[in-house]
Amino acid sequence: MKIFSRLLSSKKILTIEEIKRKPVPVHVAIIMDGNGRWAAKRGLPRLAGHKEGVKSLKNTVRLCSDLGIKYFTAYSFSNENWRRPVDEVSGLMELFFETVSSELEEIVKNDVKIVLIGNRKSIPLKVRKRFEEAEIITEKNDNLVLNIALSYGSRQEIIEAVKKACINIRNNEIEIDNIDEKYFSELLFTKNNPDPDLLIRTSGEFRISNFLLWQIAYSELYFTETLWPDFTDEEFLKAIHSYQYRNRRFGKI
Ligand code: FPP
Repeated sequence: MKIFSRLLSSKKILTIEEIKRKPVPVHVAIIMDGNGRWAAKRGLPRLAGHKEGVKSLKNTVRLCSDLGIKYFTAYSFSNENWRRPVDEVSGLMELFFETVSSELEEIVKNDVKIVLIGNRKSIPLKVRKRFEEAEIITEKNDNLVLNIALSYGSRQEIIEAVKKACINIRNNEIEIDNIDEKYFSELLFTKNNPDPDLLIRTSGEFRISNFLLWQIAYSELYFTETLWPDFTDEEFLKAIHSYQYRNRRFGKI
């Protein structure tokens, strides 16, 4: 009966008000996949798909704010993405630059805090500086933390954290036996963030692709066939709704 009513409810149109009646995830992470395929289906260049993807991102961030979600982490460019054709990489970098520039006023108005997570050194200076300016301007905002994962790789993040821990041991700031999960988490880019409650991946791929491997140990996973540029409010509400019916046990019974 429970399953039947759940099936029925998955077909109906969900509203923000309905979703807000049950606890919403505090932290949502998202793998925005399928921009290239969205463009190819229309005979457009891949960059047209990425541009359309920016619209979905803006929309989803706005919805996070409406729903009272406090942390949102968007996988925007992975360490591995540097291996894409030069034109696509430079087009994406320009798109990041333009988007931060054009959206900053709106971001400030909506009390959103921007945080760049990833290997900053590999990001072109112009883009990196623009993000860093946005980070400074939005530093005190606390409606929503928007983590932009750019030049991000989870394994590399973990290795960097291990190195920092080793340095701290060498400097007698911590003893080996005192290194625990909490201490280690604070050495990651996502320090000060609770772990994601929900991880969404679009485009029908069932992979994590080196994203937040440490942080998603107990996250609920949601996969959808929808390509990222087609990811609507309704899709996002469906993902949150699915999360609200999960039984999170964290290893307990
Ligand atoms: C994956 O789709 C998507 C990306 C590598 C880029 C995502 C970036 C955005 C949506 C823009 C974000 C903007 C800011 C300001 C952070 P894909 O190209 O791998 O798609 P495919 O698998 O269909 O080829």
